[in-house]
Amino acid sequence: MLLNLTILPGDGIGPEVTEQAVLVLQAIADAFGHQLQLQRKSIGGAALAAVNDPLPADTIQACLSTSAVLLGAVGSPAFDHYPNHLRPEAGLLRLRRELGAYANLRPAICFPALEDCSPLRADLVRGTDIMIVRELLGGLYFGEPRSITGSAGSRIALNTMTYDEPAIERIARIAFDLAVKRRQKVLSVDKANVLECSRLWREVVIRCAKDYPGVQLAHMYVDSAAMSLVQRPKDFDVVLTENMFGDILSDQAGGVVGSLGLLASASIGGPVGLYEPVHGSAPDIAGKGIANPLGAILSAGLLLRHSFHLEREAACIENAVSAVLNQGSRTADLARAGQNPVSTSEMGRRVVEAVKQSSALA
Ligand code: IPM
Ligand code: MG
Repeated sequence: MLLNLTILPGDGIGPEVTEQAVLVLQAIADAFGHQLQLQRKSIGGAALAAVNDPLPADTIQACLSTSAVLLGAVGSPAFDHYPNHLRPEAGLLRLRRELGAYANLRPAICFPALEDCSPLRADLVRGTDIMIVRELLGGLYFGEPRSITGSAGSRIALNTMTYDEPAIERIARIAFDLAVKRRQKVLSVDKANVLECSRLWREVVIRCAKDYPGVQLAHMYVDSAAMSLVQRPKDFDVVLTENMFGDILSDQAGGVVGSLGLLASASIGGPVGLYEPVHGSAPDIAGKGIANPLGAILSAGLLLRHSFHLEREAACIENAVSAVLNQGSRTADLARAGQNPVSTSEMGRRVVEAVKQSSALA
């Protein structure tokens, strides 16, 4: 199969971690007889620095002309003072919209080897396997109007949270479809005691649930969900929620399973899927060779699964990651006292090795 991809390394640790993910994809292509074809394009601060646009037209064109996009991270403090539409993040948000990627899947899994990386007790976190389904094109991120107006000292900031029924319904269906293949549980997270958006959200989700009689639907307010996520993470299966709540809860889930550096994501629903680690650009550690590439590598696995339906290949990446963790490989974010951390590229090399070994056995 031809795996034609656009690679968007982006900012901060983005280039370092995507490089390792690409090496792993190449190993998979070699092992399973696929052909990898890559175009590299710029986004975020890297694109702002080059052409003063966080999402240049040729980047969008490249993304739309390939079958999937692998992105590192966007965001750089150098652009903090720029107006909103000229921030690196604006490039990512526009890309999500251009690709119609309304469904953001963020699995948070506790790898057995990492039970004691979690700040929670091992017996609480053991077996955690959560799929966060975050609505990605609505809510406060995209709502209009938005502005800061008025004069210094009395300025007013405005953002708008808006959701319509079709937008809620399509993301709810993604969550229910996933639950059917998992443990048959959907937890819909909202703030229906305060927000109209959440009241409508809950109504529509309840209506969709009628088409999935085997799936058990529960609702929780977001504040309470945040608490339960640390008290009993393994009770969570599919978590369905709107854009901003999903942004927050997914970082929290990363903390629960030991490191945000492990979390991968798939943004799907449109013609071309977008895959990126959840961690962001981490400018404080960029260029030091210590970032954890596993979130990016696991994102490459999601890319194979969701954009190419290559389940065996995706599972091979996930098994290879488990194997290197079982062997004791730890990047700095995962290393505990007495454990020698490995570099970004060494971690990547070990995953490539594990891919080669497991495919040689198959
Ligand atoms: C994420 C990030 C982005 C978001 C930022 C970089 C715009 O935090 O993917 O979770 O808020 O969606
Ligand atoms: Mg985030």
